[in-house]
Amino acid sequence: MNTLRKTLISPSILTADFGNIGEAVRNLEQAGADYVHCDVMDGHFVPNITFGSKFVSDLKTYTNLPLDVHLMISRPDLYIDRFADAGADIITFHVEAECDAEKTLASIKARNIKAGLAISPDTPVEALAKFVNIVDVVLLMSVYPGFGGQKFIETSYDRARKIKDIIVGGKTNALLEIDGGVNCENSLAVKNCGVDMLVAGSSVFSASDMREAIKRLAE
Ligand code: DX5
Ligand code: ZN
Repeated sequence: MNTLRKTLISPSILTADFGNIGEAVRNLEQAGADYVHCDVMDGHFVPNITFGSKFVSDLKTYTNLPLDVHLMISRPDLYIDRFADAGADIITFHVEAECDAEKTLASIKARNIKAGLAISPDTPVEALAKFVNIVDVVLLMSVYPGFGGQKFIETSYDRARKIKDIIVGGKTNALLEIDGGVNCENSLAVKNCGVDMLVAGSSVFSASDMREAIKRLAE
């Protein structure tokens, strides 16, 4: 049971209106979100394209919330400085990406930004073990990356517990974040696996009352 820390809520803007992103992030801030989750996709690492670092720096001007930038791109090592300059507060990339993960994590931390490592559903959680003492955040994907509105993959509960054991065993205070298909129906079970931070896109942006949705996710 995750009782030590307040559960952080990082709504994903993937399902927001990109043509009115200022209003979307202002609404998130007023609704009590802790972070803004920014899903960057390159159309290569995942079969979808979203936005780049300029979009992130522009949306930064509309909110005081910290930005939780999730890079679903093949070569994150080439873009760390650009997203750092854009105002990212967390930069997370995938352990499956085509780069030296240790060097890339170091390049994020060199910018005094929290470094996160994401893992997709088909990757064994053991792939994270050697990085767990370096990262500030582990991002467990509970859907296949690329799109919002997908169904939560049920094996993610067990994977979350295993990753939490790896984090606790490594005596680090890395946060465990989960991303994909999270909603008010499964959020309590997810938190009971030791998850510290929830990404939720469609369940927040489709809610009639965004504040109530965020409050229920964090309860
Ligand atoms: C998927 C993204 C997720 C997604 C979450 O590749 O990384 O952040 O936008 O959206 P929902 O909560 O709708 O699954
Ligand atoms: Zn994401």
